[in-house]
Amino acid sequence: MVSQSNLVSVNVANGKGGDRKLLNDWHVVAKAADLRPNSLVKVRLLEKDLVLWRGECGAVCAWEDRCPHRSVRLSYGQIVENTLVCSYHGLAYDTQGQCVKVPAHPNYTPPKQACVRTFQAQERYDLIYVCLGEPEQDIVVFPEWDDPTYRCYLTGPYHIRSNGLRAIENFLDVAHFPFIHEGILGDPDKPEIEDYEVTIDENGVFAHNIRVWQPDPYGTGKGDYVSYDYWAFRPLTAYLRKYSPSGECLTLLYHVAPVSESECVSWMSGALNYAHDISEAEIKAFQDKIVLQDLNNLESHNPQCVPLDGNLEFHLPSDRASLMYRKWLKQQGVTYGASVTTSISDSSCP
Ligand code: FES
Ligand code: FE
Repeated sequence: MVSQSNLVSVNVANGKGGDRKLLNDWHVVAKAADLRPNSLVKVRLLEKDLVLWRGECGAVCAWEDRCPHRSVRLSYGQIVENTLVCSYHGLAYDTQGQCVKVPAHPNYTPPKQACVRTFQAQERYDLIYVCLGEPEQDIVVFPEWDDPTYRCYLTGPYHIRSNGLRAIENFLDVAHFPFIHEGILGDPDKPEIEDYEVTIDENGVFAHNIRVWQPDPYGTGKGDYVSYDYWAFRPLTAYLRKYSPSGECLTLLYHVAPVSESECVSWMSGALNYAHDISEAEIKAFQDKIVLQDLNNLESHNPQCVPLDGNLEFHLPSDRASLMYRKWLKQQGVTYGASVTTSISDSSCP
């Protein structure tokens, strides 16, 4: 038996539904450690309220946060003997979502349709992934996770009042480093971005060898040019690899879960093959600081939706990664959080 205090609220938002591309993708909704025994975790993904919990065998249940009896939130309930018991009339649902007990009618056998709507969930990289539709691909691989030469860490959740596609674009953008992350990821006296190559293939968008001057890229107190490779593997999952000629390498897998078209929750899985003397707490504090520095601009986009065509925004050579990402989103048929109009008044975006 658990009390309401065991219920973790991860995020709340309102809005309208998503598109098939995003519905059929995997999205990070929680840290695996959040799903403690006997706790219910409430999340919101693509404008749908979900409740997460673990069965006795450890498997993750990701359910619509709605009791099919009278439509109240199941997340107000509690876990009893490997069932989720609704707070209203005490109906109990097993790990498959099937109603197995009706206290008002002890001899009643609930019909098959007395079943909660369930979704596919997976636990990987210390995260919980949920797909609201039919997965078209597996979860994006994070190769450094099992590589003993890398130290891996997880940061987030970052609650951002921004469209998720804009958050990915920001992740792919190095030209803002000298201004938003001055003295850390860039130097306003060395803001030039040389031309770089971007390609689209069956894996997504790949931007290769984007060179940026950084004041102290490897914690040695010495400034240098560093190279970045970026991949957008999925509309809302991107990856970067920052590397030096001497072999230092940092990788980040960036997961952005859309709450609505104007709100998202992001997570970063990071890996470093250097700076082993720096504590994990320091690394996480650094990452948190970088994300915080991005918030003002991220949350000020107007419109929030990413224009996939037209001339609402103009583009620079250093925007090539973002431009190709937009082109690919259009090819992929992504519509949620995107617009294909040139006029704000024609757009449904917030
Ligand atoms: Fe859930 Fe009645 S509404 S048991
Ligand atoms: Fe930034």
